[in-house]
Amino acid sequence: MKKDQLVFPKGFVWGAATSSYQIEGAWDKDGKGESIWDRFSHTPGKIENGENGDTACDHYHRWEEDTEIMKVLNLQAYRFSISWPRVLPEGRGRVNQAGIDFYSCLVDGLLDAGIEPYVTLYHWDLPQILEDEGGWPDRKIVGHFVEYVDVVTRALGDRVKNWITLNEPFVSAFVGYAEGRHAPGIKDMSAALAAAHHLLLAHGQAVPVARQNCPDGRVGIVLNLTHMEPASASIEDYRQAVWRDGFVNRWFLDPLHGRGYPQDMVESYGLGLPFLKPGDYDTIITPTDFLGVNYYTRNIIRATNIPEEENTPVVVMRGEPITEMNWEVYPDGLYKTLGRLHFEYHVPEILITENGAAFPDTVDQDGEVRDPLRLNYIKQHLAAAHQAIEIGVPLKGYFVWSLFDNFEWGYGYRPRFGIVYVDFATQERTPKHSALWYQEAIQQNGFTVEKN
Ligand code: FCB
Repeated sequence: MKKDQLVFPKGFVWGAATSSYQIEGAWDKDGKGESIWDRFSHTPGKIENGENGDTACDHYHRWEEDTEIMKVLNLQAYRFSISWPRVLPEGRGRVNQAGIDFYSCLVDGLLDAGIEPYVTLYHWDLPQILEDEGGWPDRKIVGHFVEYVDVVTRALGDRVKNWITLNEPFVSAFVGYAEGRHAPGIKDMSAALAAAHHLLLAHGQAVPVARQNCPDGRVGIVLNLTHMEPASASIEDYRQAVWRDGFVNRWFLDPLHGRGYPQDMVESYGLGLPFLKPGDYDTIITPTDFLGVNYYTRNIIRATNIPEEENTPVVVMRGEPITEMNWEVYPDGLYKTLGRLHFEYHVPEILITENGAAFPDTVDQDGEVRDPLRLNYIKQHLAAAHQAIEIGVPLKGYFVWSLFDNFEWGYGYRPRFGIVYVDFATQERTPKHSALWYQEAIQQNGFTVEKN
């Protein structure tokens, strides 16, 4: 077997990511307000096993130990999010100084450890009080978000130089307001489309505010992108795959890159764009410094409007292995997605802001957590990322999801995404073998792959 050494460009950023609600705990400590995820997870029947993020990884109290772990793992960057209601318990107006202090100490701790903070301003934990006033479907939210971004970037902008306005507006809007599987649990497509628009608008309006408070900073947005493929060569499957690409990917990529909302999707929804006001598109295309991509899997799409026996897949079959989330491991989809962003959308700079996998893990008798499937997943996706760089994609960094096992939204604590194992009964942290591999890869700025 031949071995190949993959070396990443100088300055390539190696990081790991988390989000506030998934790790912090301390849901009502030191003046924090209630978020839509507190309310949702406290509502019976919403989360597997009735779990919630009340304690999670207790990162709020253990951030020093956690920073030390990151340092030992050689992480160069750490992407975390800020809880809006921890900073502004009423969503606007009064600032909770204890909340600011928490993040300020964390940022100082990271910088002392030589770790660059990448701060996500919104990773889904909207103040409940703002949801009660209409949430993302109401245009008023845009002004509230801008106020919140102003408060945070003023407080941390002297030290934090990398800002992400939103994490995955698709999930906030469509899983939260159309599917109802996430907070706030609403099932209304018109509301979801309005929410998506106000998220994009809030992003566009927040960019100049962050820049003003942090002139030497960089600002971007994070999208979840899924590689779509038709299950067969039939025209029906092809059309359905195009539709799903429009639903998940193009609905956000197109307006952000000056193309407006995709017409095929507007027609398919048949709900018009009543929320779109003159000038909105110009706000949405406010230039950013990078696009963050969260990539996990591909979807193989089969049309549902014809009987299955008339539509046997002839092109692609879903591969193995499948993760705990029932997601296919498909690194080539990352390569294709990155290529598309470069060649089709001309994105000037890309970061992989999330990539990783959940597999059931156990702590062995000797105290080790052996997770070869996760290790391979990360390795193969990094190899795909390297391949993309080789064809000219301006990819500048990679953040594994996630640093820790944590609260995986509707699935509670069952799916373990961490490279560091967390025993939720004792809060003990154990770096898994994937973390040790990653630590070494960072050290080498690359790794070896076997080639047939
Ligand atoms: C992404 C989310 C992140 C995590 C991973 C598995 O959609 O941004 O919080 O749940 O999926």
